[in-house]
Amino acid sequence: MAVFSLKSKLAAVSIVGLGYVGLCTAATLASGGIRTIGIDIDEARVDQIRKGKAPLHEPQLDAMLKRSIRNKLLAASNDISSAADTDTTFLTVGTPSQQDGSIDLSYVKNATEDLGNVLREKRGYHLVVVKSTVVPGTTNGTVKRFLEQSSGKNAGSELGLCVNPEFLKEGTAINDALHPDKIVIGSNDKKSADHLIRLYKRFYGKELPPVIITGPEAAELVKYASNAFLATKISFINTIANIAQQIPGVDVGTIAKAIGLDPRIGGLFLKAGPGYGGSCFHKDIQALINYSQNNGYDPTLFRATEETNEQQANRVVGMAETLLGSLSNKRVAVLGLAFKKDTDDIREASSLRVISQLKKEGAHVIAYDPMAIPNTRKQLADQISYADNPRSALKGADCAIIMTEWDEIAKLKAKDFQAYMKTPNIVDARRVYDPEEFSQLSYAAIGVGLVNPRQGKPNSELS
Ligand code: UGA
Repeated sequence: MAVFSLKSKLAAVSIVGLGYVGLCTAATLASGGIRTIGIDIDEARVDQIRKGKAPLHEPQLDAMLKRSIRNKLLAASNDISSAADTDTTFLTVGTPSQQDGSIDLSYVKNATEDLGNVLREKRGYHLVVVKSTVVPGTTNGTVKRFLEQSSGKNAGSELGLCVNPEFLKEGTAINDALHPDKIVIGSNDKKSADHLIRLYKRFYGKELPPVIITGPEAAELVKYASNAFLATKISFINTIANIAQQIPGVDVGTIAKAIGLDPRIGGLFLKAGPGYGGSCFHKDIQALINYSQNNGYDPTLFRATEETNEQQANRVVGMAETLLGSLSNKRVAVLGLAFKKDTDDIREASSLRVISQLKKEGAHVIAYDPMAIPNTRKQLADQISYADNPRSALKGADCAIIMTEWDEIAKLKAKDFQAYMKTPNIVDARRVYDPEEFSQLSYAAIGVGLVNPRQGKPNSELS
């Protein structure tokens, strides 16, 4: 494949911040023949990476790390001075949310300053690429200021500076990095942009995707616009789902399929559910709202996107209540904790919002997830119980709520619920089951306007 051309051995990049984005980017670039040094201040993390073991779950990543380390194309270090041996440094440190929704730039500032100190003595051109998600103006403001002060050089001739947002999805990050739909480069000067394009040309060869060259602020905004659009698309379909659920015989899946055929709408990202989670959508929309409000414009749409998402968890609990009556002292099995399948990540997961509401209503929660229990334990400790498999979670339960669309959960049959539960009340928040098959049980699904078999009522009365 052109992607793995050997010419690229001449290029050398460093990546500062070996979190999810940094590590996936490092492993991918190295696997494509680019000599890559991953840098992180966390020694334990660096040690683990050196052994070819990713400190996070991402398909293909471990194998890629091992191969690249063995081939001497990837090295990990906690010493940022090794960045001087490369000619391009990507900043991929985190930008966590603060109380007011704005992003915390302390990691970006520290990394930029440390890098600048290293570059002070370096001879020759060096390009700094901001890949961390930062609000418009950050690169040309804070980053540029910190970099110029610490390096004693001006961004322009000897020091390049540009923005290059990432669009990786957890679970498919490696594939996304190998086959991006676009590359966005925000730069003040042609030299920086050209340098980065050259690197990507080496890496992607004939498979280079469309490259959008723009100013830093526009590139920074592209990332937020992308996530805000995707999150809004989900809140949109969840809104339609909530309307559909009130109409017996209507399934939001049919509506999504039909509207998705219009190319202006598109069929992807129209799966109704319990609301979006993950480390980015909520954080990025909050940052965008905060940024915009500080500039004197209130983005009502994005506030509604977030509010709709928040309420969706209450709707899930409301559906359980309609099936069960009071939830007080009821045993509720929550199947799935991760914010989506094939990950152990529970950050901002809708399962956490649902569990918190269930606890408020006095329910006993027993949860099962094939991967996310260790992370959930760290956060919820013994506030809930944990099961080793779906069947033991269902045992004696008054209600089951499907929160993540894991294959092994989606494969469960109506008879499994019937066999193990005290009363088979099922809230299918991910719409993984066939309503027909489950019609003999007390079953309610997001966006499916059923006539409730147990109560003989249309779902309009379930809400
Ligand atoms: C998201 C974006 O999709 C990436 O493009 C972006 O790079 C990334 O955030 C980021 O900013 O780093 P990710 O958080 O991995 O990626 O997760 P998604 O696959 O987008 O799913 C987000 C949430 O939306 C999940 O909870 C998922 O279950 C939910 N979702 C997704 C739906 O409820 N319905 C859908 O149709 C699609």
